[in-house]
Amino acid sequence: MSQSPYMVADRESLSSPGSQFPTTICAMAAPTQFPNLIVFDHPLIRAKVTLLRDVNTGDRAFRALLSQIAGLMVYEVTRSFVTDTITVQTPLEPCAGARLSQKITVVPVLRAGLGMTAGVLDLMPEARVGHLGIARDEETLEPHAYLNKLPPDLDAGPVILIDPMLATGGSAEAAATMLRNAGAKDLRMICLVASPEGVQRMGRAHPNMTIYAAVLDREINEKGYILPGLGDAGDRLFGTH
Ligand code: PRP
Ligand code: URA
Repeated sequence: MSQSPYMVADRESLSSPGSQFPTTICAMAAPTQFPNLIVFDHPLIRAKVTLLRDVNTGDRAFRALLSQIAGLMVYEVTRSFVTDTITVQTPLEPCAGARLSQKITVVPVLRAGLGMTAGVLDLMPEARVGHLGIARDEETLEPHAYLNKLPPDLDAGPVILIDPMLATGGSAEAAATMLRNAGAKDLRMICLVASPEGVQRMGRAHPNMTIYAAVLDREINEKGYILPGLGDAGDRLFGTH
């Protein structure tokens, strides 16, 4: 049997220190040659990604699935967020609880990143939303930024970059650079499908940034599309194909 490139972390090691219960909804696979990447290994996510890949899945179902997967991923992406202890009054007595300490910013890369944003905000409605518009030139595959609308104090807490496709990595590298230049310190990325080339490029350009991907695919082709991939995410999301 060939050696898997993944080390699947066991549930115990993923639990909070001191917790008597496993606290993850999913085991995660850590590809050993990509230290900056966390790949989800969960039956719901695998099944939904399979539907997204299917060429027969229409725009409406594509939108719903993409948003649902983003929601499932948020649980792990936010695990290291810091909380303050607060006290609430239950109907019976005071009770110590938690409140997120820092301002959270989510930043979708237009267009396709918008397809994951609602799913993230469903679980984290307190987050602020910045927008970056970046389009990849179809010939050169170089990213072109056309919009930069970010909150002024990006260093006030964690920033989550959102883009479903990490192919050559050009767009993600440009987006992360824009966020760093705008002050982001605690930066991570959620994507749906990552390519080995894109993950490696991000590791070189932004080594202190973890990428959370629903799936790591095989390669990119000569036109910059991920294989097996799911085609053009923006076009499938917005019906522009
Ligand atoms: C897609 C995708 C990423 C980029 C990935 O966007 O959403 O932003 O391509 O490719 P890369 O890693 O090679 O840069 P696209 O430029 O097609 O724009 P769109 O979302 O408006 O369709
Ligand atoms: N952008 C997409 O939408 N899909 C790919 O496969 C590559 C880049």
